[in-house]
Amino acid sequence: MEKKKIDWENLGFSYIPTDKRYVANFKDGKWDDGALITDANIVMNECAGVLQYAQTIFEGLKAYTTEDGHIVAFRPDLNAERLVNSAKRLEMPPFPAERFVDAVVQVVKANAAYVPPYGSGATLYIRPYMFGINPVIGVKPADEYQFRIFTTPVGPYFKGGVKPLTICVSDFDRAAPHGTGHIKAGLNYAMSLHAIVTAHANGFDENMYLDSATRTKVEETGGANFIFITKDNKVVTPHSDTILPSITRRSLLYVAEHYLGLEVEERDVYLEEVKEFAECGLCGTAAVISPVGKVVDHGKEICFPSGMEKMGPTIQKLYDTLTGIQMGHIEAPEGWIKVIE
Ligand code: PLP
Ligand code: COI
Repeated sequence: MEKKKIDWENLGFSYIPTDKRYVANFKDGKWDDGALITDANIVMNECAGVLQYAQTIFEGLKAYTTEDGHIVAFRPDLNAERLVNSAKRLEMPPFPAERFVDAVVQVVKANAAYVPPYGSGATLYIRPYMFGINPVIGVKPADEYQFRIFTTPVGPYFKGGVKPLTICVSDFDRAAPHGTGHIKAGLNYAMSLHAIVTAHANGFDENMYLDSATRTKVEETGGANFIFITKDNKVVTPHSDTILPSITRRSLLYVAEHYLGLEVEERDVYLEEVKEFAECGLCGTAAVISPVGKVVDHGKEICFPSGMEKMGPTIQKLYDTLTGIQMGHIEAPEGWIKVIE
């Protein structure tokens, strides 16, 4: 298979349509067989549930070319499981987890020419999503849904690649107690748009959201979880019911403990203690691990000793180990790598 002529090394994080997408429809109480199609556009009724009441959820994962030339996906079973949880919370019919993984395999195979080559620094981003498609005018769940997956080749999420970021403590809240912060619903991202535009206008790369109940604890950013490294080299991540359970973060905790022999703690992290940490990073599928050099809390600067030039040493080790597992030059824990072809 011949690869597309794309400048892989200079890709940013933006949408480039690929040849095929996967579509399945839920109607009369059941999912149809699903199929790969070529049309990237969706025609729907003006009153579709997704358009009126934002009944939509999504996932994000990546396909990689390994050192020995295979195409693999990283832990797609966990994305399948999280989409099921998101669907239940928004009263949508879950897309069966085993069919999810099969659909990911189908759509990546069909777009293999767009999977960036090993060593290019780019990957194929996979975006599964589903939404209410029939007309809904009273506030209630739709009866009909569409599940789709498209793919798009991407480079780094943040401009500047792995240059440390400057983030600000946001005055806006991302998620309410007992709300939807723990699921991947489009509505969580819609309400973060004003906050991210404001952060960018003020010269920051991202927001640090605090818990909305007390505004004393670190939650996450708009699209990634936090990891911190203490001065005595422990890995600490916020524990909260209102953040997205990041697959990258869960994987990193395992890597820290079992590959690097580090102590890990998942616990409340207070804004007050952030100045005590030695390193900070954002982790997620899109963000991979993006180092944070500075947090600005209403004019008060917290500068991590790791500085603004490069990743701190422990975050670098975590990054190298995780990406090494994803690219196939470090042996993965059982079940983490789904070989596609
Ligand atoms: N937090 C939010 C709000 C996200 O959108 C994402 C991205 O998926 C993450 C965290 C990271 O999750 P994952 O590592 O599963 O991609
Ligand atoms: C991902 O990391 O896959 C996400 O969905 C985050 C989004 C901000 C791009």
